[in-house]
Amino acid sequence: MSDTLMTQRPRRLRRNAAIRRLVRETLVQPADLVYPLFVVPGENIRRPVPSMPGVMQLSIDQAVEVARTSHELGIGGIILFGIPEVKDPTGTDARNPSGIIQRAARAIKGALPNLYVMADTCYCEYTDHGHCGILTQEKGPDVDNDATLDILGQAAVSYAEAGVDMVAPSGMMDGMVAAIRRALDQHGHSGIPILSYAVKYASAYYEPFRDAADSAPAFGDRRTYQMDPANRREALREATLDVAEGADMLMVKPGLAYLDILRTLRDRFELPLAVYNVSGEYAMIKAAAAVGWIDEKRVVLENLTAFKRAGADLILTYHAPDAAHWLQNG
Ligand code: PBG
Ligand code: ZN
Repeated sequence: MSDTLMTQRPRRLRRNAAIRRLVRETLVQPADLVYPLFVVPGENIRRPVPSMPGVMQLSIDQAVEVARTSHELGIGGIILFGIPEVKDPTGTDARNPSGIIQRAARAIKGALPNLYVMADTCYCEYTDHGHCGILTQEKGPDVDNDATLDILGQAAVSYAEAGVDMVAPSGMMDGMVAAIRRALDQHGHSGIPILSYAVKYASAYYEPFRDAADSAPAFGDRRTYQMDPANRREALREATLDVAEGADMLMVKPGLAYLDILRTLRDRFELPLAVYNVSGEYAMIKAAAAVGWIDEKRVVLENLTAFKRAGADLILTYHAPDAAHWLQNG
């Protein structure tokens, strides 16, 4: 190699931990993390989810305690998923003023008014058929987009009335952001933002979540509403529509296999960008760590850094409490 080229020695800035820290481009903080909680009816319940070691279904009293610990760890917020007592064809519990999310939100915000609480806004946990909206039989069973928009608006208003800080529609219905925005505004909730799961792929990585949320579709799959993993231009189309409809933040989901999509959205849109580090990604790490094949802490922190480097401002992750602890205490 020529002498001139050898004046360039990137290794000079890697010689010790102090200089590496000085030139580090991406930092992850507990405040970047959002912790998903699964709330079930009953009392004093902490029911482990077998495919997601460390994750539990929680009764409301226990969810308050987990929320408190999350808050103390400096985690940015929580997102609630509800598993109702009774499921029915239209998911009535999601818009019931004393439904599972509504009661959980009141209890958590009552105990921890400064903790930021989001509510996942979708029907798959509330319908007896497990799809993300009302069914139509017109051309064989499928989700009726426009009928679902009405009840999504109702659920969002009901969550806002129970005190949630933000709603996060995840059902990939066309027009869901506009419908929810209109419903919230009409009911005096113009200050409640919408985090749209704008780009959500029909992914095999959601499998463990469906155990946790008891939301596996009873027949078929979600490919008529969630996106084909092969498509990138379509992600831009979805995000563009959601921005036009009034989304306050955008999300890409899953995370690890879709870092290119995250980067594309970061470069094209001004809105804050979230990524969902989904259940299957979590389960793979937990399984490999349990048999000693990987160093869990290092792998998790590397992945979280990768999400931020790719453009995410916030990360929904089941690793949030562990990661917050590691970030604070080394
Ligand atoms: C519901 C919803 C799902 C997830 C978040 N919201 C599952 C699905 O679409 O089937 C997945 C989260 C995860 O896997 O961690 N619409
Ligand atoms: Zn859903």
